[in-house]
Amino acid sequence: LPPLPSPPSSWSGTSPFAFAFDIDGVLCHSKTPYPSAKPTLHQLQCSSVPFLFLTNSGGETEQARATTLSERFGLTINDTNIVQSHTPFQRIASEGKLPPAYDPYVPGGRKFANSVLVVGGPTDGSCRLAAQQYGFKNVVLVEDFLVKYSAAVGNNPSTLWPYRSVSKNIRKFAKPLPCLRSGEVMPIDAIFIFNDPRDWGLSIQLLLDIMIPALEGNTAEKPPPPLIFSNPDLLYATSHPAPRLGQGAFRAALEGTYRRVVEATRPELDPQMKYACIGKPFQETYEYAEDLLVKLAKLAKKEPVGAEDQLKRVYMIGDNPLSDIQGANMFKSPRGVEWVSVLVETGVYKPGQSFPPGGEPKIVVKDVWSAVQWALEKEG
Ligand code: G3P
Ligand code: MG
Repeated sequence: LPPLPSPPSSWSGTSPFAFAFDIDGVLCHSKTPYPSAKPTLHQLQCSSVPFLFLTNSGGETEQARATTLSERFGLTINDTNIVQSHTPFQRIASEGKLPPAYDPYVPGGRKFANSVLVVGGPTDGSCRLAAQQYGFKNVVLVEDFLVKYSAAVGNNPSTLWPYRSVSKNIRKFAKPLPCLRSGEVMPIDAIFIFNDPRDWGLSIQLLLDIMIPALEGNTAEKPPPPLIFSNPDLLYATSHPAPRLGQGAFRAALEGTYRRVVEATRPELDPQMKYACIGKPFQETYEYAEDLLVKLAKLAKKEPVGAEDQLKRVYMIGDNPLSDIQGANMFKSPRGVEWVSVLVETGVYKPGQSFPPGGEPKIVVKDVWSAVQWALEKEG
């Protein structure tokens, strides 16, 4: 690959532009980096051009992801260079209560007095660790309930979801749940879908157990827990020839089952499942990313010289018009930073496909190398 154009040497304390890279379909497919990903990132790091990874994937702590990406791309990546689908939940944990917009049942939101249920990700408890690092105190997982409703030892089917035996590995990472009187529902203050569940049936069964009976006793004092997803992607790119079902597909399955079960068993209730969602293309996630980029853009810890010495532009390099491109095009920057959407042809989007409303990019390029080359030449 020819060397990338070198960035302008006229910078003072702050880089005037930065990059936000989507991961799946732009830098790698499954665990394999695209050929031009490493040289592109190396060139940017050598030229002190700030960048971060803005991904709807997740399932582990930002530090664990930074270690994996450092090894995969052969350069030093810190946890402050990464925004995963669930990373913005840190703000909710530190505030100790849900923003009103996320809670359809309690105007003004509710405090976390009891547990929060974290759904998805590997069964090794890595999402529990991520949630605890964000500041959530009592974190319970689907696997904790799976073990609770199974025989004390051995690899037995769980009555919670009879198609799933409780393996040694699941027992190893599960945590005991408080004993409940029969019929009592565990007090859950919020349900966060951190990542794609590895067992949709089990997760749907438990979520309906928690969300529907609470409506039976639904009182102002005991409303059902609000449900917040972290990624709306119906499909995403892997090394499979066709895009794979993402967290948005799980949500569609849950929503359809919720509707049918309420219609069949609780016809007095509203069969439309209520939920909130962050992740690309939503404002909260881009705001969180821009806050990080402003910090990363301060070069070599020099203080900005003046109003002119600010981050002015972010190039969002993505493969999915419905998340990466729509998000950058719709984002309202609180600082007036311009987000320029650049679509690559290596992931979900294929040449010749039409764009969804709001999902038309500034430019379509072959791959991540071409995207960065175009941006650096534009910056002159
Ligand atoms: O689960 C990951 C998928 O939804 C998309 O990941 O990196 O393309 O935003 P990414
Ligand atoms: Mg992608």
